[in-house]
Amino acid sequence: MIPKEILLKIIKAGSLAPSADNGQPWRFKITEQQDVELFRHPGMFEKDLSVLKEVSLIGHGAVIENMRIASAYFSYQMRVDFFPDAGNSNLVARLNFDARQDKDLYLASLYNFITKRCTNRSPYKNAALTELENKKLTGAGDDFKDVMLKIIADKESVRGLAEAVSTNERVVLSNPVLHKYFFNLIRFSQSKTEQTQNGMHVRTLAMPPPAEMIFYLCKYWPIMKFLSFFGLIKTIARQNSKIYQNSAAFGVLLIKEPSPINFINTGQAMQKIWLQATALGLQFQPTAAVPYYAREASEKNNPIFGGNEKELLLSAYKTIKKISADPNLTVSFVFRIGQGLPPRARTTRLELSKLLIA
Ligand SMILES: Cc1cc2nc3c(=O)[nH]c(=O)nc-3n(C[C@H](O)[C@H](O)[C@H](O)COP(=O)(O)O)c2cc1C
Repeated sequence: MIPKEILLKIIKAGSLAPSADNGQPWRFKITEQQDVELFRHPGMFEKDLSVLKEVSLIGHGAVIENMRIASAYFSYQMRVDFFPDAGNSNLVARLNFDARQDKDLYLASLYNFITKRCTNRSPYKNAALTELENKKLTGAGDDFKDVMLKIIADKESVRGLAEAVSTNERVVLSNPVLHKYFFNLIRFSQSKTEQTQNGMHVRTLAMPPPAEMIFYLCKYWPIMKFLSFFGLIKTIARQNSKIYQNSAAFGVLLIKEPSPINFINTGQAMQKIWLQATALGLQFQPTAAVPYYAREASEKNNPIFGGNEKELLLSAYKTIKKISADPNLTVSFVFRIGQGLPPRARTTRLELSKLLIA
């Protein structure tokens, strides 16, 4: 059996995975046989936004990939049994570990980048990816045959994608449900960050200080609505679009259909590509939300998206698909990538004792 201290190191690596708005929607259970059961821990907004379930599964994919990499590093092979209990869809996977002599050296080499990987929302340098970077990133996504990676670097497409993904900011700040969900996970003080150990400190959003002050007021819905009359939301979206345009490339992950297992695989591929990008010294930001909200908006009688939000989302999603893919594929993740300085602030994680369940 795998020693407990190694198992805990592997779980710790899993817990450092990225999740939407750093919600960390997962819990771990160690069984008597020293297997690990990975559970979904649904947040309170899932009842309003059904799409958060698939977004959560992408995070679980990243947890599994970090654990697979940590296992290789400690000379174990991790076997994954997805959704092993038909009666409990919150049990995402059962993982078990066999000692192994011939370790996968490439996988093991990514272990040291698990703590270095992070989201960088600052402007990047206006420099293209090198051929080698392109090749390594594409290679990193190769393990997952049901997930296709497209790297899009031509200027016009990058501009089109930058504009389309910044529709997220327009909708999140103008829609009361998304506004509440988003600000619920923004931390405006260090003490709140330390107390909750989840969410995103405002510094991780990489705004200039005056914008940070206005953003603080935006957490109050009546003020947000008032400021939107003066065009604040459109200004934020326009500024972000400009930042996104200045990236070396966008990456898009595509799946055949939006199934739970395909979202988990997306998360695994995303994480491996992100760690490879980190190893190359590249900066990375998911700009992923528009396809998720567009899927939610296209559900019949969806009560969440009013006014022109549905059209905005569907039109932005159409643009993303047109630039990146065959229209029959589903876009499961979008990110931008490029060279730049490291971010000024990092997110925190729940300590292991809070993540382990009996
Ligand atoms: C599925 C998924 C979707 C995400 N979407 C966005 C996004 O649209 N915009 C953004 O700035 N960050 C996005 N993120 C990044 C998370 O906010 C970030 O990973 C989390 O706050 C933890 O921070 P870290 O990546 O620095 O560890 C996303 C992450 C995941 C896993």
